[in-house]
Amino acid sequence: MYHDQYSVAVPFYDLWHEDGHVPEVRRLLPPLLSGIGRSIMEIGAGTGLITELIAWETPAEIYAVEPSLGMRSVLVSRLAERADLLSRVTVLPCGALDVEVDEPVEAIVMISVLHGFDAAERERLWEVLARQLEPGGLLVFNHREPPPAVPGELERMGSYQVGRHTYEIWGQVLETAGETVTWRFLYQIRQRGVLISEDEVVSVSHRPGRERLDAELDAAGFTAQRASEGLLAWRLKRGSGTARRRLMEIA
Ligand SMILES: C[S@@+](CC[C@H](N)C(=O)[O-])C[C@H]1O[C@@H](n2cnc3c(N)ncnc32)[C@H](O)[C@@H]1O
Repeated sequence: MYHDQYSVAVPFYDLWHEDGHVPEVRRLLPPLLSGIGRSIMEIGAGTGLITELIAWETPAEIYAVEPSLGMRSVLVSRLAERADLLSRVTVLPCGALDVEVDEPVEAIVMISVLHGFDAAERERLWEVLARQLEPGGLLVFNHREPPPAVPGELERMGSYQVGRHTYEIWGQVLETAGETVTWRFLYQIRQRGVLISEDEVVSVSHRPGRERLDAELDAAGFTAQRASEGLLAWRLKRGSGTARRRLMEIA
């Protein structure tokens, strides 16, 4: 069963990530999507911060894949504010490993989602994504060479004023093992310094190095493209997706 680790983080999400990876993605993603005009799939669309960017930058139809009910609810509310987005974005309420669209898309965008997949799940992920892409289609995701993570004390990772309340996110690394890091997060709301609400999330994140990703994607039929710092772009080799689709149809 799908365990939604994002449910308690939803009210904090836009506050924290507008302050984190999102501004950089807004700068780096648009040039990679130039020329895409028909269809884009976004894996892990979250509250729609990147969905909105994709819609601003391309005229394409968008499939926004998002398994978390809370995150998806904010996404749909964001779309509801704009009739043009509402008519162009289809929100798929499932995880990436279960996604299947009728016609292969021109591009797939996946921002800050890969860390949720362990090595075995990634193998399935690349296969599924290759099947959703047209031959020569583009896959873009963010990645940085992971700095060493060491278990440590709780640190405040963000603090935001919302009316009379302060929303705070605290985090600490509990454990590391190979590419896997176990994090503990606290989502707190304070009023005049007094804690009035607190939720804890313990989550496991996977941080493959670039060499490992290169090998996985090459094996799955992708070729590396020029990418900007922090964003990687791959193209599905011609023939790969179609061959996989046929195999699936036969099986
Ligand atoms: C850190 S958020 C990123 C959201 C958005 N891409 C952004 O950059 O603002 C990760 C998102 O991936 C979603 N997610 C988790 N597991 C997933 C899966 N198996 N398939 C697709 N999305 C998943 C989460 O629900 C969450 O909304």
